[in-house]
Amino acid sequence: MIILGIETSCDDTGIALLKCGPPCRVLSNVVSSQIKIHAPYGGVVPNLAARAHLKNIKPCLEQALKQAHHPKIDLIAVTHGPGLIPSLLVGVNFAKALAYNLQKPIIGINHIEGHIYANWLTNSQISFPALCLVVSGGHTQLVLMKNHGQYQLLGQTRDDAAGEAFDKVAKLLGLGYPGGPIISQRTKKGDSTRFDLPRPMINRNNFDFSFSGLKTAVLYKIKNQAIKLDQKNVNDLAASFQQAAIDVLIAKTIKAAKKHKIKTVLLSGGVAANTELRKQLKQEIKKEIPNAKYQMPAINFCTDNGAMIAITASYKKRPAFKQSWFKIQTDANLQLSQKIS
Ligand code: KG4
Ligand code: ZN
Repeated sequence: MIILGIETSCDDTGIALLKCGPPCRVLSNVVSSQIKIHAPYGGVVPNLAARAHLKNIKPCLEQALKQAHHPKIDLIAVTHGPGLIPSLLVGVNFAKALAYNLQKPIIGINHIEGHIYANWLTNSQISFPALCLVVSGGHTQLVLMKNHGQYQLLGQTRDDAAGEAFDKVAKLLGLGYPGGPIISQRTKKGDSTRFDLPRPMINRNNFDFSFSGLKTAVLYKIKNQAIKLDQKNVNDLAASFQQAAIDVLIAKTIKAAKKHKIKTVLLSGGVAANTELRKQLKQEIKKEIPNAKYQMPAINFCTDNGAMIAITASYKKRPAFKQSWFKIQTDANLQLSQKIS
């Protein structure tokens, strides 16, 4: 079975072709980034994003088909939320038209579920119960998975998402957009111990997060101490901020993993591409919960892409998936997908 995955929830047009396994194999994965379009505005402009998706989606499909040597498509999977409505509409309508034209079934996929399932692109043998730390531009969640399709939201951010904090701090430091990759780059030459920044909610007895105070703490540091934003100070502030965010993310993940006797810790979302987070999470798991395994998607499958949408669809089709293919029980906060009619 060949699944076409379509992702247009934000500012990346992603199209992928997946051959179902086990193990599944990505035949092609084309992503068209809109960084240049949104950079002058310092963030994503929804209507510009939708126009760019509209322009790029057909060429992306053609490229994906060519790279995969034009296989016969059996199922179309498309992100139908959460995300920017104008952007989502482009992908969903494109998918519907394609499904009608090819007379093939279509399934709507939840974007967060897609990020979680990106882990199955690299390992089809993940042991449950698993705990997934989802860190993207719009979400920061700790999701407990007892089996395929069974989710329990243990905690989430009460304000900004982790990726959003990276983006906002980058703006404060005059580093431009998107902030995550730029901050991550600048931290390599920075001293993460130089600026004392808070670790919000690290000792609270729950699995929620808060990142807006951390961003404000960076702002006050700059203003109150009249820090000049030269190369060295920017590198040190970036490194100190990144370490504060990582400390909280890892502390809460380890605590939740211990409490729920987790067999595998998963990482996902755009911030999962952060090298320091990946390295430190691995180290901490080995040290604190040595019996647990860990799994992270390859870097190119952390940020938005069509392959993660296609692999999610492949699991939803299997009998082992707890809920039926089209009628998926919704966890209030995950708002999992329904059939697109
Ligand atoms: O999952 P994603 O591609 O889109 C959403 O679903 O939001 O995540 C995008 C977020 C952005 O906030 C971006 O700054 C962040 O992921 N990001 C990173 C890195 N690469 C992307 N954050 C930290 N370090 C990175 N290397
Ligand atoms: Zn995403």
